[in-house]
Amino acid sequence: MTTFDFDGQPVPLQPGDTILQAAQRAGHEVPHLCWHEGVSASASCRLCTVVADGRPVPACATPAVAGQRVECHTEALKTRRLHLLQMLFVEGNHFCPGCEKSGNCQLQHQAERAGMTDLHYEPLHPERPVDASHPEVWFEPNRCILCQLCVRASDELDGKRVFAIGGHGIGAKLLIDSESGRLGDSQLSVEDRAAHICPVGALLPKRVGFAQPYGQRTFDDAETRG
Ligand code: SF4
Ligand code: SF4
Ligand code: FES
Repeated sequence: MTTFDFDGQPVPLQPGDTILQAAQRAGHEVPHLCWHEGVSASASCRLCTVVADGRPVPACATPAVAGQRVECHTEALKTRRLHLLQMLFVEGNHFCPGCEKSGNCQLQHQAERAGMTDLHYEPLHPERPVDASHPEVWFEPNRCILCQLCVRASDELDGKRVFAIGGHGIGAKLLIDSESGRLGDSQLSVEDRAAHICPVGALLPKRVGFAQPYGQRTFDDAETRG
């Protein structure tokens, strides 16, 4: 069987596999935020960075190669991930106890997995106005981590291109394709995949935030906490 080495374990690979796909299929967790099966990889968050044959690469967008040696959970990579996560937290406003995504949030989950106990950096406290103009979906830009999943889902799965990323650095933000720039004037429907793919609590269907009780959420299970 064709394999590569992942943190000292042989991992089988199939044609077309990325490192992340093959490793996850074999039961390894590869930390990620901007990857989602079903849409193309943007390799934008860099949380999944691994070292493949001595070179840092994004596991979500790098083909797995037979015989390759991949390191994922070294101390250096874990420290790098922790700092990436801390930066994401301070760039937005994340108050998990009051957030309806808590327990289902990839950012929160990854921070827990990384053992994050403080912010490390000075919080920026952005004051971006919430967009509640859509009757069924709301957008809280202060929680947006610019992962581009909604951008790709709207384009590739919904065929609409409701979203885009504009600006650079700290000025980068999610743009909405409508005359007013608001969600309520866009083509977005609550049935769209883009309305459900956000890994954090930035883009959320309204009135169902607490339909799934705390304690029964994706990352509430003790086993998924690891
Ligand atoms: Fe916490 Fe996630 Fe909500 Fe941010 S989006 S406040 S990390 S649960
Ligand atoms: Fe990603 Fe959500 Fe922001 Fe869209 S709204 S870019 S899915 S964090
Ligand atoms: Fe690979 Fe974001 S998950 S770069």
